Amino acid sequence: MRRALRFVIALVVGLAMLAGIASVIVQNTARTWFEKDIVLRSQLVLNGARREAVSILKQDDRAALRELLVEITQDERIIAAAACSKDGQPLAATDDYPTNLACADIVKSYIEGDSSFGKPWTAIRDVLGVDVHVTALPVTLGDDLGAVVTLLHDMSFIERREAKTRYFLFGTFALLAFCAAVVTMLAARLSWRSWNQEISRLLNGVLGGKDREEASPEFQPLLKHVREFAARIAEQEGEGDGRWTNERLKQTLRKHLEGEKVIIVANREPYIHEMKDGKVTVLHPASGLVTALEPVMRACSGVWVAHGSGSADRQTADRQARLRVPPGEESYWLRRVWLSKEEETGYYYGFSNEGLWPLCHVAHARPTFRSSDWKQYVTVNKKFAETVCQEADSDEPIVLVQDYHFALAPQMIRERLPRATILSFWHIPWPNAERFGICPWRDEVLQGMLGSSIVGFHTQQHCNNFIDSVDHYLEARIDRERFAVVQQRQQTMIKPYPISIEWPNHWVKSAAPPADCKAAVFAELGLKPNALLGVGVDRLDYTKGVEERLSSVERLLERFPSFRGRFSFVQLAAPSRTVIDLYRELNENVEKLAARINERFGHGDYRPIILLRAHHEPPTVFRYYRAADVCYVSSLHDGMNLVAKEFVAAREDERGVLVLSHFTGAARELTEALIVNPYDLDEASSALASALMMPPQEQQDRMRSMRAIVSEFNVYRWAGRMLIDAARLRRRHRLTGRLSERITSEEIAS
Ligand code: G6P
Repeated sequence: MRRALRFVIALVVGLAMLAGIASVIVQNTARTWFEKDIVLRSQLVLNGARREAVSILKQDDRAALRELLVEITQDERIIAAAACSKDGQPLAATDDYPTNLACADIVKSYIEGDSSFGKPWTAIRDVLGVDVHVTALPVTLGDDLGAVVTLLHDMSFIERREAKTRYFLFGTFALLAFCAAVVTMLAARLSWRSWNQEISRLLNGVLGGKDREEASPEFQPLLKHVREFAARIAEQEGEGDGRWTNERLKQTLRKHLEGEKVIIVANREPYIHEMKDGKVTVLHPASGLVTALEPVMRACSGVWVAHGSGSADRQTADRQARLRVPPGEESYWLRRVWLSKEEETGYYYGFSNEGLWPLCHVAHARPTFRSSDWKQYVTVNKKFAETVCQEADSDEPIVLVQDYHFALAPQMIRERLPRATILSFWHIPWPNAERFGICPWRDEVLQGMLGSSIVGFHTQQHCNNFIDSVDHYLEARIDRERFAVVQQRQQTMIKPYPISIEWPNHWVKSAAPPADCKAAVFAELGLKPNALLGVGVDRLDYTKGVEERLSSVERLLERFPSFRGRFSFVQLAAPSRTVIDLYRELNENVEKLAARINERFGHGDYRPIILLRAHHEPPTVFRYYRAADVCYVSSLHDGMNLVAKEFVAAREDERGVLVLSHFTGAARELTEALIVNPYDLDEASSALASALMMPPQEQQDRMRSMRAIVSEFNVYRWAGRMLIDAARLRRRHRLTGRLSERITSEEIAS
C-alpha cells in the first residue's frame, strides 16, 4: 500500500506539473489569437466608418471627426480613439484618450513600421497602470495618407478569459488526478488482498508440509525461497516440535551427543561464597552470562570451570577445587580455578577489561593494552585450558568456552584434544576490522578463537565483523557460503545465536504477586501510593549508559512538569570492576549526577532519583521489576542485554513498559518496546513520558507480544541450537575422519 501511495503522490505531482505547462502553452496561444482578433475588429470598425471619415477629412471638419470617433467608441471594447494628421498633429480625440499616447509618436511609429501598405501598426501600452491594446490604421485620401486613426482596446477581457481557462484546466487535471488516485488505490488494495490470500495459502501449504503446493508463475520464485527458508529453519531447530524447555535440552544432549558431559569455561562463577560477619554466604553475581548459562548447566549437568573469586571459595570447595551446585539442588559441578593477584590483575582487569572490553564496545572509552597484561592473559588461558583437559573424561569432550576472557583457550584445548567439539560464544559485540586492528595481539586472538569448532555471536553483524577481521589479518580461506573460516584442515563455523533467559523463569516462580511486590517496594522506598516508578538494573559500567539514563529522567521532569513530585526512578547499580579508574570515576559521576537532579527537582520526602549502589540478589531485582511502571535499558552498546528480557519475564501481569536502547542486541527481538537512542535525551524523555501515560490495553498488547518472543526464543533454544550444530559437526568429522583413515590405510597397503 505504501508503494501505491508513493505512486499516487508521484502521479499527482506529475499531473500538477503537466497542468502548469499546459496552462502556459494555452495562455500564450490564446493571447496571440485574442490580439489578432482585436486588430481585425479595429479594421472592421474603421472600414465601416471609412467613407464618412474620408468626406470629413476632405472638409477638414474637426467637430464631425470627433463625433465620428465618439460613435466608434460605442463598441464596448474600444475605450478611446484619436485621429492624427500625417505630420503627427492631433486632429480629434475622444475624451478618454490618454495624453501619453501622443500623435507624433504614433504617426512616427506607424510610418517607421512596416505599415506603409495600409497594414495596421499595433502595440500594447500601459495607460494608468492598465495594459491597453493600440491599433493605428491609415485613412487615405487618394494616394495620400489623410490621417492615422488610433483605436484603444480594453484588454481586461483577455485576462478574464485566461483566468477562466486556467481554472478550467487546473480543475480538469485535479479531477483527473483524483480519479487516477482512487483507481490506483483501489487496484492496489484489491491486488494486495489477492496477493495476501495467495501468499497465506502458499505459506500454509509449505508450513503444513505440502510439498507440491501449486502456485501461479509469478509466485514460483517466492515459493522457492519460502521452501528453502523453511528447510533451513527446520534444519536449525533439529528434530522435535514445540517450545524449548530444560527437558527438551536434556533430551537433545542425550539423543544427539550421546549424553556427553558438557564442560563450560567462563570467568565468572555462578555461585560465589563470601565470608560475611564470620558467616559464609552465597552470592549470585550480576552477570548476563551467568543468568543465561546457569539454567543450561542445570539441564545439562557437567562441569563449570570458573575463577574462584569469593573470599570463602577455597573453604567451600574440595581439594580438587570442586563442589556440587546449585546449593540445595545439586545438579552439576563447579570447578574453581585459583588465580594469583598478579594473574587476576593482568588477565581480568588488564587485558580483558581495560583492553578487549572497551575495544569491542562503542562507548568512547580508550582501550589500554599492556604487554604485562597480555602475558598474564596467556598464562591464565593456559591454566583454564589445562583444567578443561583434566575435567574431560573422553578425547572428544564438548567444551563451551565463554566470552572475551578466553580468546586463546580454544586453540590451546584443540592442541591437547584435537577431537574435542569446542563451541565459543562471545557475549559482547565484535568491532569492525579496522577497530579490532587496534589490538596489538589481534592475530593471536583470532588464531586462538579459530581453535573452536563454532564461534557464536549474538547478531549476524558481529559475525560479519569477525569474518572481516579474519579476512583482514590472517591467512585463511573464508567460505562465505557456509560462513566458515578454513585453515589447513580445521574449519570454524561462525554463526549468530541470540542469547536469552530461562523460561519459565525460576526467580519469577518464587516471586510474590506483582501487587504485593509493588506494595513492598513502595514501602521500602517511601513512595506515595499514586507515585509512578521507573527502574534500571545494571552493573555500574560505562557501556550501560547510566548517566544518559539519569539525564533523561531530568529532561523528562524539565519538559513535563506534571511528573514532578510523582515520578521516581530507582537505579539498582551493582558496583563492578572498581579496581579500574574508569569505573571508579563512573561511580562518582553517577552519584554526583543523582544528587544534582535530586537537588533540582526533589522536595520534602520526594526524590526523583533513588540510587541503590549495591549488589542485589535476584529475588530483590525481580521484586523491583514487578513493581515498576517502566524499565529503562539505556546501554550505549550491548551484545544482547538480558535485563530487558528479565523485565519482560517478570511481568506476568502483562503490565509495565520497556524503554530500550537501539544499541542493544535485544532491540532486534523486542520490537514492541519503546526503542530509543539513549544519547538523544529529548527522544528518551518523550519515550519515558509515553510509557508513563500508556493506556493499560496498549501495555498489555506490547507486553504480551514480547513475552511470546522471549518464551519461545529462550536460553534452552539458544543452547539447543548450538548443541545440535555441534552434533552435526561431530558426525561430519567422524565420517570424514573414518574416510581419511581408510584412504591412508589403503595407500599404505598398496
Ligand atoms: C558481561 C560479560 C560477562 C560478564 C559480565 C559481568 O556481560 O560479557 O562475561 O560475566 O559482563 O562482568 P564481570 O566482569 O563482573 O564478570
